[in-house]
Amino acid sequence: MARPYSCHNLQFFWSGKTRTLIDNVTFDTTMYRLLIRPVLFLFDPEKIHHFTFSFLKFFGSIPLAKSLLRSLYYVGHPKLERELFGLKFKNPIGLAAGFDKDAKLIDELACMGFGFIEVGTLTPKPQAGNEKPRLFRLPEDQALINRMGFNNEGVLAVIDRLKKRKSKIIVGGNIGKNKITPNEKAVDDYNYCFEALYPYVDYFVVNVSSPNTPGLRELQEKEPLKNLMLHVKRLSAQKDKSKPVLLKIAPDLTSSQLDDIIEILLSTKTDGVIATNTTISREDLGTSTETVFKIGHGGLSGKPLSEKSTEVILYLRSKLGKNYPIIGVGGIMSPEDAVEKIKAGADLIQVYTGFIYEGPGFAKKICKKLVNQH
Ligand SMILES: Cc1cc2nc3c(=O)[nH]c(=O)nc-3n(C[C@H](O)[C@H](O)[C@H](O)COP(=O)(O)O)c2cc1C
Repeated sequence: MARPYSCHNLQFFWSGKTRTLIDNVTFDTTMYRLLIRPVLFLFDPEKIHHFTFSFLKFFGSIPLAKSLLRSLYYVGHPKLERELFGLKFKNPIGLAAGFDKDAKLIDELACMGFGFIEVGTLTPKPQAGNEKPRLFRLPEDQALINRMGFNNEGVLAVIDRLKKRKSKIIVGGNIGKNKITPNEKAVDDYNYCFEALYPYVDYFVVNVSSPNTPGLRELQEKEPLKNLMLHVKRLSAQKDKSKPVLLKIAPDLTSSQLDDIIEILLSTKTDGVIATNTTISREDLGTSTETVFKIGHGGLSGKPLSEKSTEVILYLRSKLGKNYPIIGVGGIMSPEDAVEKIKAGADLIQVYTGFIYEGPGFAKKICKKLVNQH
């Protein structure tokens, strides 16, 4: 049956049949995998990332284009809705930090079926990040290696964009420290980012787990981490309306380090944990050792990370109890992987590498799986 006209919704000209056809044939992930991905993967990964951003920005500026994207990729269903740390999510699938670091594409990405988007990692001052090339594909492993090094335009530039955003999608602000800031002064950087971003994001993520900023992961040690989390939580508590503060952790921690982190999460009343960031491990890769060696250091994401991050989630859930908010991320490459993360204990999930490999229909595919499963 034809749907009624609405200027916010392009569905006025789809009949059910047309829409199903477009749904299932033209835009689904199989077509992306067969036609679009092979072309995109011919080019340098970082250049293609910027090209895709420019294309989506241009496409999104065409009248009704965003409505078209929304009607193609949005799945609304009560089974998908979640309430966590005081926020109501339309669905549990988020876009992980690092994809839209500078909040350039929030309105467009919001139309692609995500329940939330995390911007950043943001630092007080803009910084260029590491030398290029710094992003590599490992197609045999459905993986990426990156050593971007917190390239971002700085928190103030991003605020300008967040002020102008139209979408009401939940936005998280992932914050870090500048490379030149010594660890002893790291708290000042997180403080600055928190204060600046506070009016414009819905939740915060303290990132101490990127492998690409020298010394950053030392902040995951017990004393510095406790001080940092206490500080950021205190900042939030001082506001009229406090906002949730989460911690993002690495997948490469020992159980005793994880136990310390669990103690800190609970004692500082941190609102949730994001597990995990990329791994420095290179175990069990199908890509040749020579190629992996040539790529060099950086964080590995995608399929090879999946098991490791699920193990961390299982451990966290077993120790933190059933009500503690956990966001699961790492190697979700299929709807089945998403279900596995949720079964391991994740309340919400995030994707990055899976979005690159599976394309714009990925969040929708996961949503459909979650709606259809018992
Ligand atoms: C190119 C790239 C850049 C990233 N940048 C950030 C970042 O700035 N901050 C952060 O917390 N995580 C960052 N991440 C990590 C992702 O948010 C995510 O935790 C990780 O990639 C594992 O998920 P995935 O296997 O679905 O990609 C980045 C990942 C990639 C691939």
